[in-house]
Amino acid sequence: MKKENNLMEKIVSLCKRRGFVFPGSEIYGGIAGIYDYGPAGVELINNIKQAWREQIFRQHDNIFEVDSSILMQKKVWDASGHTSSGFTDPLQECKKCHRRYRADHLTEEGVIKCPNCGGELTEPKKFNLLVETHLGPVKDDSSLTYLRGETTQGIYVNYKNVKITMRADLPFGIGQIGKAFRNEITPGHFIYRMREFEQMEQQYFIKPKEAAQYFDSWKKERMQWYLHLGIKEENLRFRPHAKDELAHYARSAEDIEYRFPFGWHEIEGIHNRGDWDLSRHSKFSGEDLSETDKDTKKKFYPYIIETSAGADRLTLAFLADAYREEKDRVVLSLHPKLAPFKAAVFPLLRNKPELVEKAKEVYNMLKNPSTGSGQGFTVAFDDRGNIGKRYYSQDEIGTPFCVTIDFDTLEKDDVTVRDRDTMKQERVKIKDIFSILNKNIYGK
Ligand code: GAP
Repeated sequence: MKKENNLMEKIVSLCKRRGFVFPGSEIYGGIAGIYDYGPAGVELINNIKQAWREQIFRQHDNIFEVDSSILMQKKVWDASGHTSSGFTDPLQECKKCHRRYRADHLTEEGVIKCPNCGGELTEPKKFNLLVETHLGPVKDDSSLTYLRGETTQGIYVNYKNVKITMRADLPFGIGQIGKAFRNEITPGHFIYRMREFEQMEQQYFIKPKEAAQYFDSWKKERMQWYLHLGIKEENLRFRPHAKDELAHYARSAEDIEYRFPFGWHEIEGIHNRGDWDLSRHSKFSGEDLSETDKDTKKKFYPYIIETSAGADRLTLAFLADAYREEKDRVVLSLHPKLAPFKAAVFPLLRNKPELVEKAKEVYNMLKNPSTGSGQGFTVAFDDRGNIGKRYYSQDEIGTPFCVTIDFDTLEKDDVTVRDRDTMKQERVKIKDIFSILNKNIYGK
């Protein structure tokens, strides 16, 4: 247990030191369950989102992307079941210091007194997770609404819009990436359980009798995505939900779990939501969201197979999986596609203007290729300290390739390319670096 906590401490510290993740409002002492992404973290999480987009929207012709608003009518959350008992956690409060805790988390850990002050705890009470806000100048019941508790409700309210504008027929899907908010009682484990987080959700609308088939195919497809991006197979598993733990909307559900340093935990949910959502939104909005079976002419509400992943949890999983210590270096062996910087360029010596000038030339060429050979890379430039230190600092950020410009470069137009994982160095012509990186990072 100690070793595992130690590993999390190392990851958290690396995230801060190397600009991945910072505590939210840090200069004011932080705010529980809220984190900010720094320059390296933004690149990493954006690459994860981009890889998700590639699978969901580029590999499927019939899945469409939307970007719906965070604020919606309160009625949306009544229809979805989130304002009633469906979206609640059992909560216990300390009678002395008034801190609140998830009752099920305390039970899991065998805790019966307040972990903060040892005070007596109240009986568990249900606590709604939606974050309330008021829209408009008057703060009363009529202006009450919520920051969205899941991104997917913004998909359902646009079901008809997308279907009509894209001339889509079942089966088809709608996906989106965006922020979600939950008043988590016990946020924790760094960016694992947050109060403001990002979801990557996809809803596949199908005929009811196809539910089992698509539930299985989406499970397989999503698992493959993690494996393809380099997560170790032994750190991933499915966990089916027992009947009594299913969310209020789900007929069946399986989590994809990752083996974090603090144990196996959910990173993505695959849910068969049945006809819950479209039937409820039809009823509450008065808009008919049903379909008609072409053969039997009978009306039905499409079933939904949902894949719902958290971008922040995935970021933590990718970081934990990539972290390794090797003799005197720390390496993030991130899949090159996910690495914040694809390459780092170094002049051998910072006090030799001709080397610095050449290095800047290579750096700019990799960032903005003029050859028309495609998009440039995210590239770091470093001329501080000795080359060994520069390599190690790029290893910690996960940069797959380091390119060093030396005196031979000026003569022969070639550079040393050093591989993060093998530490092997190779002499390569400047004109070939771009295509070598492309091949090694994107396989093209
Ligand atoms: N639309 C279905 C839904 O929201 P969920 O299991 O509550 O289902 C889906 O959440 C995913 O969203 C989780 O697998 C997790 O990756 C992410 N997630 C949920 N709550 C989170 C939180 N408090 N902090 C970070 N990520 C969270």
